Amino acid sequence: MAKENKKTKNTQYLTIKEEREIAKSNRKIMKQFERAKNRKNVDESEFTTQMHDPRNVIEIDNLHTYFYTDVGTTKAVNGVSFKIPEGKIVGVVGESGCGKSVTSLSVMQLVQGPVGQIVDGSIRYTTSEGKCYDIAKMPRDEMRRIRGKEIAMIFQEPMTSLNPVFKIGDQLDEALAIFEPKMSKNEVKARSIEMLEMVGIADQEKIYHNYPHELSGGMRQRVMIAMALICNPRLIIADEPTTALDVTIQAQILELLLEVKNKINGSIMLITHDLGVIAGMADYVVVMYAGKIVEAGDIHDIFKNPKHPYTVGLMRSLPSLSHVVTGSRLYSIPGQVPSPVNLPDNCYFCNRCEYSFDICMEQYPPDYYFEDNHRAACFLYDEKYKDLDLIKPELPRNLTDDSESIMARKIPQGRVVLESETDGFGG
Ligand SMILES: Nc1ncnc2c1ncn2[C@@H]1O[C@H](COP(=O)(O)OP(=O)(O)OP(=O)(O)O)[C@@H](O)[C@H]1O
Ligand code: SF4
Ligand SMILES: [Mg+2]
Repeated sequence: MAKENKKTKNTQYLTIKEEREIAKSNRKIMKQFERAKNRKNVDESEFTTQMHDPRNVIEIDNLHTYFYTDVGTTKAVNGVSFKIPEGKIVGVVGESGCGKSVTSLSVMQLVQGPVGQIVDGSIRYTTSEGKCYDIAKMPRDEMRRIRGKEIAMIFQEPMTSLNPVFKIGDQLDEALAIFEPKMSKNEVKARSIEMLEMVGIADQEKIYHNYPHELSGGMRQRVMIAMALICNPRLIIADEPTTALDVTIQAQILELLLEVKNKINGSIMLITHDLGVIAGMADYVVVMYAGKIVEAGDIHDIFKNPKHPYTVGLMRSLPSLSHVVTGSRLYSIPGQVPSPVNLPDNCYFCNRCEYSFDICMEQYPPDYYFEDNHRAACFLYDEKYKDLDLIKPELPRNLTDDSESIMARKIPQGRVVLESETDGFGG
């Protein structure tokens, strides 16, 4: 099981002596992880595994990623399990700090070490050559074969990912040349230009010779997508790919993502705060809270029949046209997420949950399964408490107004058809 610094005190304040003790014991733990990751010439059998279902492109199983800070162990990802089927888009949604980015960085083995470490769990991935590896156990050197080529990432703010002192063309060429050393310079350039064309850039030759600062935000994000796709990855991780863009450009970039995904027959892990984006893009949804998955399921299950009070709370906090018309306040979930350093033993959501009852204060709920793969970690669905006639969370009827506001943003209407005249979200 995951290593944890036992010296973390259950209080907000630490003395300098306590901090030093934590730092000392952290150094020991981190050294062990780093040593394991930096090993050379490791036998492939150590990190070779098998997919549980060959139709999945990736299977994340009981993933734990911790940060060993001087004030204690931050359990950023604390037992996360989900899969991404081939050719599908899985949307990961949740409040700021719930572990969305750390989950994706774990998949890329890009968690900021030595403080951040994958401490437990597995990330099974089958390469295009048909080999199945556990990324969580792969040494750093080996991971270079997968990162960028097989799994590519699109970040929120392209300006921080593009190098400001190199021309766009040089950066695209470099991304390809690393993985295709046999390609000639001209072939590499031709492919870069082709990619710029694929992401909808009109004057590709000109843009090829431009620096990042000469492009608009939308153009830079297109370049980032071109760079991510240049090696034909099987899985694209898009971490808030449109958050820094205005709504019109956002819609264009999302359309583009859908288009290129279909062209390369890839899969996407789409991370966002925005349920509207999820509604338009995703096939499956994973709802995260404080480093754990609280609900997961097919897009229709999540939008039409959400089970977890947190998921319903997120839906209720969608901005609506009715708020503008009636001047009513936008709903926000009361309270705060617990600190990832001192997580309680009970349900992490219980201090904010209007449905909580006795057991919620005592234990963390297991997953309860509904139709297909729909699951939620909430005691309300435990048969043991059936006789208590507990009230379950439901989507408010006026959520239909929210669907109008989502449609007004022109987000692709690919998955859940949001019709204003239906009750809740129609499908
Ligand atoms: N380098 C780091 N050192 C220490 N803690 C970190 C580090 N990076 C992330 N964390 C912690 O891990 C937790 C999860 O962070 P993460 O970035 O995954 O959140 P997120 O869900 O992506 O949030 P946002 O929506 O704001 O991007 C947070 O509590 C954060 O403080
Ligand atoms: S387990 Fe209890 S506190 Fe947690 S979400 Fe369900 S009802 Fe609320
Ligand atoms: Mg993030």
